[in-house]
Amino acid sequence: MKTEGLRIDGARLLARLAELAAIGQTGDGGCCRLALTDEDRAGRDLVCRWMREAGLEVRIDAIGNFFGYRPGTEDAAPVMTGSHIDTVATGGRYDGCLGVLAGIEAVHTLNAAGLRTRRPLVVGVFTNEEGARFAPDMLGSLAYVGALPLEEAYARVSIDGKRLGDELARIGYRGEAPLTLYRPHAHVELHIEQGPVLDAEGDTIGAVEKVQGISWQEVSIAGESNHAGTTPMRLRHDAGYCAAAIGTFLRTLARELGGDQVCTMGSVTLHPNLINVIAARANVTVDLRNTGEAALQEAEQRFAAFLVQLARDEGVAIETRRLARFEPVIFDAGVATLIARVASRLGHSCRPMTSGAGHDAQMLARICPTAMVFVPSVKGISHNPAEHTSPEHLAAGADVLLHTLLELAA
Ligand code: GLV
Ligand code: MN
Ligand code: MN
Repeated sequence: MKTEGLRIDGARLLARLAELAAIGQTGDGGCCRLALTDEDRAGRDLVCRWMREAGLEVRIDAIGNFFGYRPGTEDAAPVMTGSHIDTVATGGRYDGCLGVLAGIEAVHTLNAAGLRTRRPLVVGVFTNEEGARFAPDMLGSLAYVGALPLEEAYARVSIDGKRLGDELARIGYRGEAPLTLYRPHAHVELHIEQGPVLDAEGDTIGAVEKVQGISWQEVSIAGESNHAGTTPMRLRHDAGYCAAAIGTFLRTLARELGGDQVCTMGSVTLHPNLINVIAARANVTVDLRNTGEAALQEAEQRFAAFLVQLARDEGVAIETRRLARFEPVIFDAGVATLIARVASRLGHSCRPMTSGAGHDAQMLARICPTAMVFVPSVKGISHNPAEHTSPEHLAAGADVLLHTLLELAA
């Protein structure tokens, strides 16, 4: 099979990224397609149409993941690629979408060249990767690999109070296919880096070897509401203060643990949230990540001890609820090495990397050899409408994906 000169159509990839980004556009270059909303449905419908136009057979599974299948010359285990098209509420246009549309682009390229791979190819789109509306993140791929029972997934409640199973049915993506639909021979996901390394180092491709561990929890603080003018400081049980103390403690924790430890309080809600009322209740979210499992556990333990002390000092009740917990993942060395080899063969500078963000590929890694291809994010900006990757880098990543798939499927 003569494949060396094959390249994806960068102009079509760019045009499709723009067309998908128009669904749920926020007017500032960004997108809001929270999982299982009407915007997500419209995005899914468009991607399904593109899959069918590429000749792919589309099937939707019970958790709303959908897949485009291209037969191989043999009925062997398929090679899978894909990502997600849901976004955070202040998302950019590349996070997830690049991996999906580049997978379809790879199929178009093979169609145009009249080439059929030995193994089938599958382009997958996974439900609720972001976790911004339903926890945990990477929920669809987690269910896909059998690590989250379907009924448990259906029962998850969104930040706007809806059951996941109901929302899936409402948008028409509670499919018939079983979660075990395809057991891949290998899986490769293309994604923007979402961090500053490739951009700063001037490299085009990252061959991702591991993903850091993720710990998400919600902390609820119950204090006492009272008058902001009349209540002496020593008599307060101020949930707002406790939320602020958690925020500053997280910064201290990250500094003290050092290394790769990152800590974020991304959401704060106060009640009643008024200028002259001491907050009775606060809800905050805490995101802890580390490349080392032992270090991540230490961060969790230190944070838990801090909460016990804070509750005692302030006379408040503090409860925590686990939203997500994933250990660090080491990808398949063979697939990561193949990505690096393909990148250099195509003339792109490449470096081995660790992913700071969570990805569906880390779930697929539980059932088949898996690794990821990264392309640069300008200034490392992501989960932000300003998220940007140059057209050249988008095309380079898609070409590396295409040729990696070709080798895996040969
Ligand atoms: C998913 O985007 C995550 O890493 O939070
Ligand atoms: Mn993503
Ligand atoms: Mn994301």
